[in-house]
Amino acid sequence: MKRISLTQYLVEEQRLHDNIPASLRLLIEVVARACKTISHSVGKGALGDILGSADTENIQGEVQKKLDVISNEILLEANEWGGHLAAMASEEMESIHPIPNRYPMGEYMLLFDPLDGSSNIDVNVSIGTIFSVLKAPEGMSQPTEQDFMQPGSQQVAAGYAVYGPQTMLVLTTGNGVNCFTLDREMGSWVLTQKGMRIPEETKEFSINMSNQRHWYPPVQRYIAEMLEGKTGPRAKDFNMRWIASMVADVHRILNRGGIFMYPADARDPSQPGKLRLMYEANPMAMIVEQAGGAATDGKGRILDIPPAKLHQRVPVFLGSKSEVERVTGYHAE
Ligand code: AHG
Ligand code: MN
Ligand code: MN
Repeated sequence: MKRISLTQYLVEEQRLHDNIPASLRLLIEVVARACKTISHSVGKGALGDILGSADTENIQGEVQKKLDVISNEILLEANEWGGHLAAMASEEMESIHPIPNRYPMGEYMLLFDPLDGSSNIDVNVSIGTIFSVLKAPEGMSQPTEQDFMQPGSQQVAAGYAVYGPQTMLVLTTGNGVNCFTLDREMGSWVLTQKGMRIPEETKEFSINMSNQRHWYPPVQRYIAEMLEGKTGPRAKDFNMRWIASMVADVHRILNRGGIFMYPADARDPSQPGKLRLMYEANPMAMIVEQAGGAATDGKGRILDIPPAKLHQRVPVFLGSKSEVERVTGYHAE
């Protein structure tokens, strides 16, 4: 089998479709390299002193794990000096991180969830990194938070790394979705799945059932109908999976279909859902749509939401198109 590396893929993609200029290729390769470093730390576990809590809180009021902080540092350091970025923003940092003056400023802005699935770190379950790439607005000199307030449809690239039994990188630059597997011995990313497509038909759903009593009626109805199985209105039995790492749940759905949901609920009406628009919902929505699926907040397309603030949360329904359309339809009724 001829092995195609991430670099070769990016170069050839540019030649064919003219959609990955050299600076974007550098950006993607630097992010991929940072994910390789994170993967290496993840793999060391207790031996690398990366488990447990960092005894600090992030802007969302969540206790940070050591690996949240380490992964954030790795991504910042890797991406500062290359001249491809104007600024970064992270789930783990209150404000944006402009590129220091000593480095040249580039035309892109990078957003990331450095470590997704933090509750799984200490129990050796799959976790990941999610990233999103935006273009800096024309004529921008000193980046501000306002420059990041672009809807997800403006993303020029999005991807995630999943640190599981294998380390994989799933990437879109707006022309389909491809998956690369990390060859740990060689230290290189090898193209292993081309043009990933989410299967249309599914019997699998993904939601944290422990929140059921807080859900609003459309979600109650949608789940109840699935739970009724063969003799219910859906006339088939469904299976449920919830890994509590969005990256791992989305990766399963990309491969064998399904729907992932983190709805808004009645616990705290000021917090519409748990997941963050800029670091989780937007990049995953782009990937899912590029793979033939759909992603909504229950009302409309996630990629059309005009962001109001950096750490904004949104309800998320994504995966196989017909299922996402059904639950979105229930919200409209
Ligand atoms: P993070 O670790 O970046 O804070 O994200 C965790 C997210 C997401 O990955 C996962 O689907 C969800 O939170 C799990 O939430 P529950 O703990 O409520 O199940
Ligand atoms: Mn996350
Ligand atoms: Mn995180």
